[in-house]
Amino acid sequence: MKKTLRIQESELRTHKSVLLEETVQGLELQKGNTAIDATVGVGGHSEKIAHILGKKGTLVAIDLDENSLSSAKKRLSDSDPHIIYLQGNFRNVKKLAEEAGITSVDGIVFDLGWHSEQLASGKGISFNSDEPLLMTLGSSESHLYTAKDIIKDWDEDEIARIIREYGEEKFSGRIARVIVETRKKQPINTARELAEVIRSAVPGFYRNGRLNPATRTFQALRIAVNDELGALKEALQNALELLAPEGRLAVISFHSLEDRIVKQAFRNAEDTGIGKRITKKPIIPTSEEREKNPRARSAKLRIFEKNTL
Ligand SMILES: C[S@@+](CC[C@H](N)C(=O)[O-])C[C@H]1O[C@@H](n2cnc3c(N)ncnc32)[C@H](O)[C@@H]1O
Repeated sequence: MKKTLRIQESELRTHKSVLLEETVQGLELQKGNTAIDATVGVGGHSEKIAHILGKKGTLVAIDLDENSLSSAKKRLSDSDPHIIYLQGNFRNVKKLAEEAGITSVDGIVFDLGWHSEQLASGKGISFNSDEPLLMTLGSSESHLYTAKDIIKDWDEDEIARIIREYGEEKFSGRIARVIVETRKKQPINTARELAEVIRSAVPGFYRNGRLNPATRTFQALRIAVNDELGALKEALQNALELLAPEGRLAVISFHSLEDRIVKQAFRNAEDTGIGKRITKKPIIPTSEEREKNPRARSAKLRIFEKNTL
C-alpha cells in the first residue's frame, strides 16, 4: 500500500510535458534552425526540439527559475545543438536573445505556468501545504510583493478585485471580506491557513464541489504576484518581432485569461499584416493525454506564422 502511494506521489511531482508532439510538429522546425524555448522548465519540449535542430542548430533556453534551468541543463547535456541557457523573464525575450547575439529565430515556444516540480518547491502554491505564502517565481527579492503581503496589507476592495479579475471567482467579495476579518484576529501565514479561510467564506455547495474552493483565489494571487498577464502580453509582442520570415510562434496556455491574450495578440498580428494564424481554433490535448495528465485538461495550443519577406 505504502509503495503504491509513494509511486503516485512521485508521479505527481514528475512533470509531464503537455501537447508535446502537437507543439513541436506545429513549429515546423528544420535541421540547422535557431529556436527559443522561452519556458524551458525541465526541458521536455526542448529535448524534442533539440533533436530536430541537430548539430548545426541553435537553441536558446530561457527560464526565470534557476532550479528549472539546472534541471534542463542536466536533461539536455547530451543534446546536439548549440544551447544557450538564459535566466530571465520571458517578457524581455527579445532583449535576452539579442544580448546573446540572436536577432532572428525560426521558432519560439511558450508553455505557460509552473511545472509540477515547482508546485512543491516551498512557495505556497499547493493548498494542502504548510508553506509560506510567497507564490513568487524566481527569487522573492525581485518581486514588488508576495502573496502574503497582499493578504496581510491590501485593502478589502483590492483583494476582491484581483480575486474577481484574475481568478474569475464569483465569490470574490465574500472571500476578501473573510480574509480581512480573519487577519484582524490572527495572521494568515501559510497556504493551508489561507485555503481554510477561503473554505469558510464560500457557500456549502461550492465548498463540496468538484473544484477545491481555493483554486481560483490561489490562481489570482499567483497571477498578481508575478504579473503573469502583463508579462505574457509583452512577451508575445517581443516574440513576434524576433521571428524570422515564415518563423512560427507556439503558445500553450492553461486558463481562459491567458488564452484570451494569446488569441487577441495573434488576431491583431494577422489584421496588421504580420502573418497568419495557423490555428483559428486552439489545439487541445487528446482524451488519452487528458486522462494520463491532469495538468493537460485545460491546455490550449495556438500557433502563428510570420509572413515571408
Ligand atoms: C510549464 S513549465 C514548462 C515545462 C517545459 N515545457 C517542459 O516540458 O519541461 C513553465 C516554465 O516557465 C517558467 N516561467 C513562467 N513564467 C516565466 C516568465 N515570466 N519568464 C521566464 N520563465 C517563466 C517557469 O519557471 C517554468 O519552468
